[in-house]
Amino acid sequence: MADIPHSQPVIRLSVDGGIAWIIFDNPNRMNALSADMWAQLPEILKEAQVNQNVRVIVLRGEGRRAFSAGADISEFATARSGSAAETYNQLNHQAFLALEDVVIPTIAMVHGYCLGGGLGLAMSCDLRVCDERALFAIPAARLGIGYHPRWLRSILAAVSGPRAKELLFTGNRFDTDWALRSGLINEVVVADELEDHVRTMASQICANAPLSIKSAKRSIDALVANPALEDLTYLETLVDACFESEDYKEGQRAFMEKRKPEFKGL
Ligand code: COA
Repeated sequence: MADIPHSQPVIRLSVDGGIAWIIFDNPNRMNALSADMWAQLPEILKEAQVNQNVRVIVLRGEGRRAFSAGADISEFATARSGSAAETYNQLNHQAFLALEDVVIPTIAMVHGYCLGGGLGLAMSCDLRVCDERALFAIPAARLGIGYHPRWLRSILAAVSGPRAKELLFTGNRFDTDWALRSGLINEVVVADELEDHVRTMASQICANAPLSIKSAKRSIDALVANPALEDLTYLETLVDACFESEDYKEGQRAFMEKRKPEFKGL
């Protein structure tokens, strides 16, 4: 999709080599997510993954003030009340599911506020890299919102139960020190360097063997969800696919020839 100018809140996709940048673009409302934006996300994720060149997806907010301040509260009276609430929550679910289903690595690049559903989306990414001013909160209890257990799963994959309770019980905004200590985020970088840093990280991932990464991602996610998982059959097929791949041969050849490998994901 072309990176076109617009006036409405929207999610944009911009592909640059192997990196797909998905941008929450609603800067007048701290990149809050409108119902339309929730609905757009699965389509945009699909569009990014259909592109065979894309090996990493980065989610970010437009500008530097916010990754996203969560769902657009101004719509709640109409779009998230009474009988409409279930439809709205389904849009949320579909967006989270689509993000969790992405086969390639996903990175949340967080400038500034990362709140509510915005934090939920960041937590549904594989990695979170933030600027030093980033702030994290789930203010659901301040708005009387029930936080669906499905949205908690990705948070509990990163932080302990007591940390999650601190987030949800208080609704307070937590800084990067708290977030790093809690395991909520991977890394903090000064704001001026964040984009370059994330681009470098994404490029490093792009240069590695896609099948190895797919296998690692699926195994880690499955084992975090269920550490006692006994049936490893599917995960083993992903490992087998690596050993049977052209990329495995290419990795060895490149090492012996003292050059960088050129992996094709085959
Ligand atoms: N939904 C709709 N509009 C939002 C929004 C949201 N989630 N978050 C921010 N905005 C709007 C504000 O209403 C304001 O609009 P206005 O200029 O028309 O008044 C604009 O974005 C700027 O926000 P403002 O509150 O003036 O900036 P701030 O720096 O003082 O505070 C926040 C920023 C993000 C801390 C504050 O806006 C906030 O708490 N937002 C709500 C976060 C939230 O509860 N999210 C969970 C939703 S489920």
